[in-house]
Amino acid sequence: MKDPLKIGLAGLGTVGVGVVKILQHHSDLISKRAGRPIQIIAISARDQGKDRGVDLSGYEWVKNFSTMSNHNGLDLVVEMIGGAEGAVKDFVYSSIKNNKHVVTANKALLAHHGADLAQLASDNAVSVGYEAAIAGGIPIVKTLREGLAANNITGVFGILNGTCNYILTEMRETGRDFEDVLKEAQDKGYAEADPTFDVDGIDAAHKLTLLTALGFGVKPDFGALSITGIRDVSADDIKFAADMGYKIKLLGIAKRSGDKILQRMEPCLVKKTSAIGNVEGVFNAVCVKGDFVNEVLNVGPGAGEGPTASAIVADIIDIARGNVPPMFGVDAKTLQHASWADANDIQSACYLHLEVKDQSGVIADITSVLKNHNVSINKFIQPGFNDNGTESIVMITHKGQYKDILAGMIALEKLDSILTKPKHLRVEEI
Ligand code: HSE
Repeated sequence: MKDPLKIGLAGLGTVGVGVVKILQHHSDLISKRAGRPIQIIAISARDQGKDRGVDLSGYEWVKNFSTMSNHNGLDLVVEMIGGAEGAVKDFVYSSIKNNKHVVTANKALLAHHGADLAQLASDNAVSVGYEAAIAGGIPIVKTLREGLAANNITGVFGILNGTCNYILTEMRETGRDFEDVLKEAQDKGYAEADPTFDVDGIDAAHKLTLLTALGFGVKPDFGALSITGIRDVSADDIKFAADMGYKIKLLGIAKRSGDKILQRMEPCLVKKTSAIGNVEGVFNAVCVKGDFVNEVLNVGPGAGEGPTASAIVADIIDIARGNVPPMFGVDAKTLQHASWADANDIQSACYLHLEVKDQSGVIADITSVLKNHNVSINKFIQPGFNDNGTESIVMITHKGQYKDILAGMIALEKLDSILTKPKHLRVEEI
């Protein structure tokens, strides 16, 4: 058997402890699969004295994780601290410069600096493994970079945040509003005390940025992404969508649109009966469309100790085997700046939700505005009075130019009979 691969772990939170557990528990199995033993040499975390429920006594304790980047006894460092800038970024950069492989779950770092890191890793002949950064335990990096390497990828889309999917599922099943479900999720420890990254779509957008880079061979470009989270999705929207045969999901979408790429993160309506519509609770799902394979859907746990550590150890095993494909599936030098499609050019059906005064002629006024903006109605319901005495009108449009629908929304808002800002969500046909 070859020499062991010697590794250092920076960060011993939930995921770090999971990695230790797997490497201890499956040490023989992993040695056989990797063709060489994988040895934890050094570990680092803020609190050395804390009982983490695993035996850490055989490992060298490193006070400052940054110093692992030039530790002579290490071939690979696992970064499990997080953050796109500062000491963690410096640690990853200097580890690569010192010819150490890096495995990380740090989606923010990669979404902001991925192209640069891919070039640096290539220049230093090391690998940056990041399977754990996208959709936790789902092996989507391997799927896109290796399993589907024969295909021209035409689209990648998915449910990339378990917290949002849990909240939307719970809202639908119980009829409760966003704030109420979020609070309960926080009390139970499912959602972070500061939920911003999750519910505003940023965490999922980091992941989509990487999926787009992998799928289309372009530089990760987080700044180019249009991001809308789930705060404005109401219990009513979820109920009205259900009445018309749909569920609302926070979807990350990247697809070819002519010679451009359309990339968006937003709550969308999907058919209740669709495969992705049936991915519920904390689960994640990523669907890839390729010209020869047609469509592949991967569903699984997107977070948590076991799934995330499983993805990290898979990367370590790959590196131990010497399987080191380019970070985004093509030589870093050939990664292109993407040409992004304009949202105005999207062809889409939309869900519209209007709160109106209950008076004669309201529907005539609304349909007249929509007609003037080339918006054609496919489904229409008037579910009844709301608690505050207003009336809701809900529609699904036929597929049309998104810019026409946006213009129609602006014109509708000016009508006297429309009481609140009209709401629209795209219907994604998948
Ligand atoms: N907070 C994420 C989620 C997992 O809720 O899915 C880590 O990205």
